[in-house]
Amino acid sequence: MIELLFATGNKGKYIEAKEILEQQIPEVRIKQLDFKHIEIRSESIEEIAAEAVERAFEESRMPVFVEDSGLFIKTLNGFPGTYSSWVAKKIGNRGILKLLKGEKDRTAEFRAAISFRSQKNAKTIIGICKGEIAKTEKGNGGFGYDPIFVPKGHKTTFAQSIGLKNKLSHRYEALLEFSKYLKAHLRR
Ligand code: IMP
Repeated sequence: MIELLFATGNKGKYIEAKEILEQQIPEVRIKQLDFKHIEIRSESIEEIAAEAVERAFEESRMPVFVEDSGLFIKTLNGFPGTYSSWVAKKIGNRGILKLLKGEKDRTAEFRAAISFRSQKNAKTIIGICKGEIAKTEKGNGGFGYDPIFVPKGHKTTFAQSIGLKNKLSHRYEALLEFSKYLKAHLRR
């Protein structure tokens, strides 16, 4: 059995990652490291995750990963990006819709970065989900920006179709890529 820590204070993220990774790699066991860390300021989720995982590895000295994510809106030059969590608390979905009022190009994407660190390896993986910002909030599922995000090729928001979200999301994509990386590296 190979034990791997997920450094996060977010129980929901932990459960999702555990399910996906343990299903993909039966010999892996994911444990939560309840990790409180002040993130660096950066416009790049990759940089934020890569710095955080170093701190988590210093603390645990065990194979460990972190995840950082955000919503990037094209016409707002990537805002709220790495400030997504703070912006959600301050202006929420209604605030984002106001910023985009009358805007034709509503292109946006969710990005998730997973950073892994062990004694021998360091790796950062990105998952992206492309889509658009809806004109109004729709649906009750999910969290954060889910009621205003419509994935490319679909008509409903993530909050309206959570089953769809779980198979399409930036986090799901990053976790699948990460499981491929782990399969190739952990067994050596
Ligand atoms: P963090 O990675 O925990 O800092 O989360 C970043 C923020 O991005 C969250 O608080 C949400 O506001 C937003 N976000 C990230 N992923 C999602 C998602 O799957 N749905 C909706 N909002 C998300």
